[in-house]
Amino acid sequence: MASITLTGVGKTYADKRVNRVLEDISFSVADGEFVVLVGPSGCGKSTVLRMIAGLEEASSGEIRIDGARVNETPPARRGLAMVFQSYALYAHMSVFENIAFGLRLARVPKREIEDAVRTVARMLQLEHLLDRKPPQLSGGQRQRVAIGRAIVRKPRAFLFDEPLSNLDAALRADMRVEIARLHKQLGATMVYVTHDQVEAMTLADRIVVLGPAGVQQIGAPMALYERPANVFVAGFIGMPKMNLAEGAIDAHGRLALGGVALDWHDAAASGGRVTVGIRPEHLVPDAAGPIRGVVALVERLGAESHVHLDVAGLARPIVVSLKAAPPPLPGSAWAVAPAHGALHVFGPDGARIDNKLFNSETEEA
Ligand SMILES: Nc1ncnc2c1ncn2[C@@H]1O[C@H](COP(=O)(O)OP(=O)(O)OP(=O)(O)O)[C@@H](O)[C@H]1O
Ligand SMILES: [Mg+2]
Repeated sequence: MASITLTGVGKTYADKRVNRVLEDISFSVADGEFVVLVGPSGCGKSTVLRMIAGLEEASSGEIRIDGARVNETPPARRGLAMVFQSYALYAHMSVFENIAFGLRLARVPKREIEDAVRTVARMLQLEHLLDRKPPQLSGGQRQRVAIGRAIVRKPRAFLFDEPLSNLDAALRADMRVEIARLHKQLGATMVYVTHDQVEAMTLADRIVVLGPAGVQQIGAPMALYERPANVFVAGFIGMPKMNLAEGAIDAHGRLALGGVALDWHDAAASGGRVTVGIRPEHLVPDAAGPIRGVVALVERLGAESHVHLDVAGLARPIVVSLKAAPPPLPGSAWAVAPAHGALHVFGPDGARIDNKLFNSETEEA
């Protein structure tokens, strides 16, 4: 397996209307590491993967595999395997032939091909399907064939571009577990693009968050969840989304958000506009809580409910995620308080302001 390093990588298309798609992308993937790329549609995730694979040329910067520059190396000689959202299987070939295809091209001896395909098929529970053709398979089975075709070539690293996004929720969950198991079993280096929060959080050793301005933050999933570096990451990582409200730090060091005042002590920060973030799961019902309003909507999901609370002076309702307690009725008055240490405060430039001295006591304005 291999390490992958991108240093200052950019992509410019000849089309002048598009000009710079990506600029100054730098991150590294250690040998055997599982790195997940997330970001909004169109931010360049697929382009990054395609540049690593060599299907797209980097306009600037350097891509290294195991320390060696590969910018000029053709895709076939980079030794990477890419798995796409569309499985790109050959419909007229059997599952066996689809998996064997790359090995045949590489003129691997027949016996070896046979052994390799059987091993991979066993790993992916495809043994009983080897004679079928892709149109006779379910979506999940097709995706397993596509993964099998990648594995059988013993690549130095795997690149996945939203491999599960065509599958229904239940199958997705199964395949997610499969991919985690494969990663362990193969000890493989993997770069994985997804839109799915659960995939990103559960599969990644580290997540790279791409935004309109390039790499926004790199870190372990829980590190991004607990300490998002800026407003973009705060709003992107976490489901349901973090509540974000515009406000200011008043003369007493309190956070003033519309009609809500929250105690927050940070010697370094006084005065000025801020954005305050609180995760829905970090708000607790509290009759004396500082965040009070009228329940606009309740979404009952079974294990939890999402309560949308209209609060005077705030542009958007505050969403509260309730696990155990029965939710309040729509139209009723309700109040919540942030849990201890639950506030994320960002300065005018969107960057996180530290809140080491956060005090849990809250009071109303
Ligand atoms: N061949 C091309 N010529 C010009 N622009 C392109 C080309 N290919 C991609 N782009 C542009 O580059 C940007 C990044 O595209 P890319 O497919 O990498 O995004 P993405 O993050 O993978 O999005 P999604 O989440 O929708 O898959 C987009 O704005 C896209 O329109
Ligand atoms: Mg894409």
